[in-house]
Amino acid sequence: MSRRRILVTSALPYANGSIHLGHLVEYIQTDIWVRFQRMQGHEIHYVGADDTHGTPIMLRAESEGITPEALIERVWHEHKSDFDAFGIGFDNYYTTNSPENRAYCEEIYGSLQAAGLIARRPVEQFFDPVREMFLPDRYIKGECPKCGAKDQYGDSCEVCGATYAPTDLVNPYSTVSGAAPVRRESEHFFFRLSDPRCEGFLRNYTQQAGHLQPEAANKMLEWLGAPGDSKLADWDISRDAPYFGFPIPGTLGAKFFYVWLDAPVGYFGSFANHVDRRAADGIAIDRDHFLKPGHGTELIHFIGKDILYFHALFWPAMLEHAGYRTPTQVFAHGFLTVNGEKMSKSRGTFVTAASYIEQGLNPEWLRYYYAAKLNATMEDIDLNLTDFCARVNSDLVGKYVNIASRCAGFIGKRFDGRIGAMAHAAPGAGTQPSLLEDMRAAQASIASLYDAREFGKAMREVMALADRANQYVDHEKPWELAKQPDQEARLHEVCSTALNLFRLLTLYLKPVLPKLAHEVEAFLSIPPLVWGDAASILAPGHVIHPYRHLMQRVDVKMTDALVAANRQSLPGSSQAPAGKTGAGAATATGAGAGAGAARAMPPEAASAEAETNAKAKATGAKSTPPAAAAPGTLTIDEFARVDLRIARIANAEKVDGADKLVKITLDLGTEQRTVFAGIKSAYAPESLVGRLTVVVANLAPRKMKFGVSEGMVLAASGDGPGIFLLSPDDGALPGMKVK
Ligand code: 2FM
Ligand code: ZN
Repeated sequence: MSRRRILVTSALPYANGSIHLGHLVEYIQTDIWVRFQRMQGHEIHYVGADDTHGTPIMLRAESEGITPEALIERVWHEHKSDFDAFGIGFDNYYTTNSPENRAYCEEIYGSLQAAGLIARRPVEQFFDPVREMFLPDRYIKGECPKCGAKDQYGDSCEVCGATYAPTDLVNPYSTVSGAAPVRRESEHFFFRLSDPRCEGFLRNYTQQAGHLQPEAANKMLEWLGAPGDSKLADWDISRDAPYFGFPIPGTLGAKFFYVWLDAPVGYFGSFANHVDRRAADGIAIDRDHFLKPGHGTELIHFIGKDILYFHALFWPAMLEHAGYRTPTQVFAHGFLTVNGEKMSKSRGTFVTAASYIEQGLNPEWLRYYYAAKLNATMEDIDLNLTDFCARVNSDLVGKYVNIASRCAGFIGKRFDGRIGAMAHAAPGAGTQPSLLEDMRAAQASIASLYDAREFGKAMREVMALADRANQYVDHEKPWELAKQPDQEARLHEVCSTALNLFRLLTLYLKPVLPKLAHEVEAFLSIPPLVWGDAASILAPGHVIHPYRHLMQRVDVKMTDALVAANRQSLPGSSQAPAGKTGAGAATATGAGAGAGAARAMPPEAASAEAETNAKAKATGAKSTPPAAAAPGTLTIDEFARVDLRIARIANAEKVDGADKLVKITLDLGTEQRTVFAGIKSAYAPESLVGRLTVVVANLAPRKMKFGVSEGMVLAASGDGPGIFLLSPDDGALPGMKVK
């Protein structure tokens, strides 16, 4: 097998949100693949970076009262520590706000310009006259042109579902300053993707075997349109000041590269930095071998399916026409759902990496669970927390670790830690002469499954082998042999055989469970296992260390506590990774974890709530300890724990079989909730739709006969008949806090 030389990347996470379980699908997938290739002896450079530029990061820093540089520095440390905790073994974790990245961006831009592939033309956009900045569409809200619902984004109405352009919004306002935006023109720079050279290249590139998964290649055909009728439009690569990014050369600081131009170039920036750091350690890597065509190396990107457009069209076309190599393969994965639904803050399934660690869950449980679920397609994967517990306990603890825990103690106590001969040492001898050979024979198929990113199938093969190893131990019953003085030799043989099988299983699982494998290597007193080690065994006479239990079972109480710790009743959080659904339900992708497949923009700035928190932090504001309340009264702090919010009734319907209840869908501005309210005697459900009311937003969800109620709407009633739903005064908007 010739030695492959591969530069591998995972998508770069935005520097204004926390890493969460959705992101981890991608990093864990990439890391497993990288570790497997390394164990094979290939030369791998796995690089990543924070994606640091763009309007949201600029505004977030401003709201925190710090510079963007300070913000991205802080977030970099958070991300790095999350990745370290989950065993993501980047060779270099860097930032896109680097001199290396800037130099590559300028050079690539210069080459595209020289090739006649940069055009300039005026673009009319919304402009915030107060903040004096152009506004990306998602910073504009207004009234739905169809149903009149207030506070809707510029693409679609969350109340009636209508879709439209931002310019169709009635009474639009800037979410940055609240001002009415005006239309203003400015000159933008475009990468001329519609040029026949780009189109011709992309028709070939996207359809050539192996660059893209089959379903991705088909998607590209759709996006490219029929030959002669190309759908490729030029790509706007500039943004006007103020912007946090790299200035476009020759524009005197007035124009900046759009964050999506410099983000993928950031892969190269991180690699260049890695090369320099290695050089400082005396290890020479030739950059151009990986970045320029014709050196027989590979460039492989792992991404979420929502950012295919950037990686399969813009990025290869840019590289090709700037004289760089193009990606060898772009591997896209699907989204993560938790318990079969989009990750949700109100349900507590929007779980951050940091909270997973803080709650004491073992990162390798998640690595294994994801591995068991992953395949090479773009299908979504589900993290079912009940199944997670069951699978970790049954496979990792019950099958794999069980082999060692049932046999290792005897080697330690009865044979001074000395390994004996294997049951099959003499050909044809022993009860399971073929087991070790069968296990070895499976190596090629396990390897090809890892290589093809069919990790789920690989895990099933490994667990089938673990089952057989357990059957062997069950059959030999070392605990009974141990009671029979004349069975000493056999006990030694059985336990030595089992530990050899365990060693081989460890080797096969090592890409997924690097930390556990490391502990096993220490316990077995062996050097780090590499793929070729399957051919050898723990030789008779080899001395191992005393066995210590290798892995705890996961208790369902732990996953319950994890969900409870992540449950947020507030519409917004500083941990929101963004996207306009960031505060509510969000389908998580590799990097951005925004609004799902259609999202291809940098995330929103943090919510007003997060901004307020951040301001309190930035100004050093401290809360004073609550004063004790007189009996029967509340302190202001106690009252403040009740999260009252304005909500719009998006829908109301009767509940079959319930006399008093109305089922209400509430729009809290950034998320929707269902509540059941006992107001049917006073209101016809259809009369409620569209009106504003007040909801207790942090009431624990209550399971009722007809469904789960996720809050409570407030109504007045007295001794006489009548129920009177509360309404706010004109001007209140969904999501506003009532206090
Ligand atoms: O979608 C996202 O989260 C982007 N930050 C991914 C960038 S990947 C690469 F292009 F840098
Ligand atoms: Zn509407």
